[in-house]
Amino acid sequence: MQTKIIIGTIAFMLTMIILGFIALNEPARLEAFSAAYEGRSIENGAEIFVNNCATCHGIDGTATQCFDATGAETGCVGLPLNNADLLCGNRPPRLDAMGWAGTKSDFIEGTIAAGRPWAGMPTWGQQFGGPLQNNELRDVALFVQNWESETLCGGEEVEGPVWPTRVSDLPAGNPENGANIYQVPLGCNACHGLVEDESTANGPGPWLGALAAEAADRKEGYTDADYIYESILLPNAHIAPECLIGGNPSDCPEPSTMLSNFGQRMTEQDMADIIAYILGVTEFESNVDVVYPEGSVAPPAEE
Ligand code: HEC
Ligand code: HEC
Repeated sequence: MQTKIIIGTIAFMLTMIILGFIALNEPARLEAFSAAYEGRSIENGAEIFVNNCATCHGIDGTATQCFDATGAETGCVGLPLNNADLLCGNRPPRLDAMGWAGTKSDFIEGTIAAGRPWAGMPTWGQQFGGPLQNNELRDVALFVQNWESETLCGGEEVEGPVWPTRVSDLPAGNPENGANIYQVPLGCNACHGLVEDESTANGPGPWLGALAAEAADRKEGYTDADYIYESILLPNAHIAPECLIGGNPSDCPEPSTMLSNFGQRMTEQDMADIIAYILGVTEFESNVDVVYPEGSVAPPAEE
């Protein structure tokens, strides 16, 4: 009798100790579980990214190197996503630039789901007629956000590239080389078509072949080269009068959907070659200053 009670008491105490131990460890266990769960989600997101997004945003998300389905290198037409402007902190500059009041993860997941079809970003969410289910959208959005890192975000503000204020200070341009880099690596043709062939242009930007005759009329006091130089470095300084959207002449979207990072992706020689290709001249005249903001754009991650 006595022993039964003692055994019963010991068993009861043991049970309480074990339960207490489990309860104490529950938060840690849950955390490990959700970390593993998030890990799987990110892995799955990585696979979705490589298969669906890398052609436009680059394998590493920096939009510097893109390949088409045959493995040939193409220009990257998507914005960089592995980018401080979009990822660093709770309120990255990109949210304000886009007038987004919600959270960063809603911005990223929402943009992936709805796309910006008028700007070349396809729609991915099934609720909008795209191919990805909600859990897949969340996984790929988590994968993108996982690029936020000490290396990307921890550094002190790095100075941006410095561009001459006068386009006439660029080196002489080489139009043939310009015609090449216009396609790869810069990918201007994806939005503008080829300068020499209007039939290759179907948006979302305007065909640039008319600029040799019209650029200087776009802004008072500008030369042709002034205008093109400014349009490439600061797409929002002036919005082109007419864009092709799905091949139809339409108002250009405002703010501009042209990538705003060419000033960080081009050398002075690239710039001269591109302008030479668009205008068909090798030397440039200048009437105005074009001021590229130093360090105001978050720097790309180390390459
Ligand atoms: C056909 C090319 C293309 C593909 C494929 C593509 N994107 Fe995009 N994406 C773009 C373009 C172009 C933009 C910029 C649109 C604009 O200027 O507003 C963009 C913008 C974005 C943005 C918003 C970035 C910002 O700073 O505003 C996110 C996030 C994004 N894409 C994620 C993805 C993901 C994830 C996938 C794959 C599921 C994907 N994209 C596939 C072209 C593409
Ligand atoms: C993602 C699409 C996209 C890419 C890539 C792109 N642009 Fe644009 N570009 C646009 C859109 C949209 C406009 C019209 C809105 C504006 O004025 O910014 C435009 C406008 C321009 C203009 C002014 C045209 C006019 O008629 O006033 C020039 C010049 C230009 N782009 C040059 C380039 C060059 C050079 C490249 C490659 C280095 C390039 N763009 C890459 C979308 C793009």
